[in-house]
Amino acid sequence: MLKPNLKEARKRTTEETKIETFDSIWNMQLKGIAKGKTYFIKTYGCQMNEHDSENIKAILEELGYKEISIMEEADLILLNTCAIRENAHNKVFGFLGRIKNIKEKRKNVIAGICGCMAQEEVVVDEILEKYSYIDLIFGTHNIHHLPQFIYNLLRKEESQVEVYSKEGEIIENIPFKRDSKYKAWVNIMLGCDKFCTYCIVPYTRGKQRSRKHEAILKEVEELKEKGYKEVTLLGQNVNAYGKDLEDNYKMEDLLFDVSKTGIERIRFVTSHPWDFTDQMIEVIAKCKNIMPYIHLPLQSGSDSILQQMGRRYTKAQYLTLFHKLKEKIPNVSITTDIIVGFPNETEEDFQETLQVVEECKFDSAFTFIFSPRVGTPAARMEDTVSIEVKEERLQRLNERINYYSKCANEAYLGKTVQVLIEGVSEKDDTKVMGYTETMKLVNVKASKETIGTIIDVKVTEVKTWSMDGEEV
Ligand code: 5AD
Ligand code: SF4
Repeated sequence: MLKPNLKEARKRTTEETKIETFDSIWNMQLKGIAKGKTYFIKTYGCQMNEHDSENIKAILEELGYKEISIMEEADLILLNTCAIRENAHNKVFGFLGRIKNIKEKRKNVIAGICGCMAQEEVVVDEILEKYSYIDLIFGTHNIHHLPQFIYNLLRKEESQVEVYSKEGEIIENIPFKRDSKYKAWVNIMLGCDKFCTYCIVPYTRGKQRSRKHEAILKEVEELKEKGYKEVTLLGQNVNAYGKDLEDNYKMEDLLFDVSKTGIERIRFVTSHPWDFTDQMIEVIAKCKNIMPYIHLPLQSGSDSILQQMGRRYTKAQYLTLFHKLKEKIPNVSITTDIIVGFPNETEEDFQETLQVVEECKFDSAFTFIFSPRVGTPAARMEDTVSIEVKEERLQRLNERINYYSKCANEAYLGKTVQVLIEGVSEKDDTKVMGYTETMKLVNVKASKETIGTIIDVKVTEVKTWSMDGEEV
């Protein structure tokens, strides 16, 4: 048993990250050991976690498992968890009760937890103490050992717990069972070294480790050959790509080279304002296949709160960058993340955030109430602001965010936009759906044959979170 350790997770070493290939770790003898068995996986959290689940699914299917959507019937139940806020935690603990009932009826079911919550010392201690029916706990750096855990569990060995707290290697040639045939996530870096004071990610995902650009470009080339139309370059802080490598190859170089592969659409998330260089902006502006869409978390508009959050920029610096992006990248859409109710946020601090929202008129935003995460500096700060005040601020903020989302969409009315059609519309199965270059969801009157292609769509109606249109 190897449990997570918060002290270890905090450490950063200067050791060079080792690179291994999945083929060299993968024990071919385990192929098919779970033939005839089924698995159910539930994924919480961000795209990084969704992408990890694509990796987990591919590994399980190599072992012989087949995916099913009814948890009660599965032989293996896996929760890929998120630790970013308390409500993500609560959802998982709520789910554990359902798993207990299943295990009482079907003893041979294997139940496991992985992802960011599995990296948290307090969580794993609680699971081991109160939820002893969980058979498998593995961390974000231990996914490639999954075949061995399953082998051991199928041989009725005791529960498997393996969580490396120190960051793992970079594993190349990882298999993925991708959710889409048209758009794909591509990890360009793992971990984060920014240590914003509220954030658990540097502890759950480890030190920043950039993949070598040759490996990234090869993956994009292969996706393009398979017919993928869009890639999203993924990392907790993609603008810092390459800073941990010696070759002086930076995010702007990567964007430019990915653009040269000729894949039709390129996106990247998430950007930290601190590392957004002029060279990056230039490349985004000049390469037509890099989409004019930037997610640029603000977090707060108050300099005092930004400083306490450890964000390394001021309100003025954020605004300067924002306006530069708007000026240099034609038709760019910018979205953001905002936290309200950081410890001791005053009404004046909150007003500063509202002022930035009024000035930037974001295309949309994810807004959150601050949630203290064990082990982070902000969780140790004394906080005198009541939850009622925080909720009321969130409501006031959302009202403005929604207003500007609708305004941003209204500018599209009557215009023709390019949409990558991904599938049948969830709301109306006579329509198809997809996203514009600027990441607006559009439900389109068009034949199902357009799925997987980029088509011209005239926008006929706009709402707060989506638009309607028809093929032209
Ligand atoms: N409390 C509330 N929101 C948080 N986020 C990250 N950590 C916390 C926290 N402790 C938000 C940030 C980040 C987004 C992914 O989640 O806004 O950008
Ligand atoms: Fe993703 Fe962060 Fe949640 Fe982990 S904690 S799943 S990295 S959002």
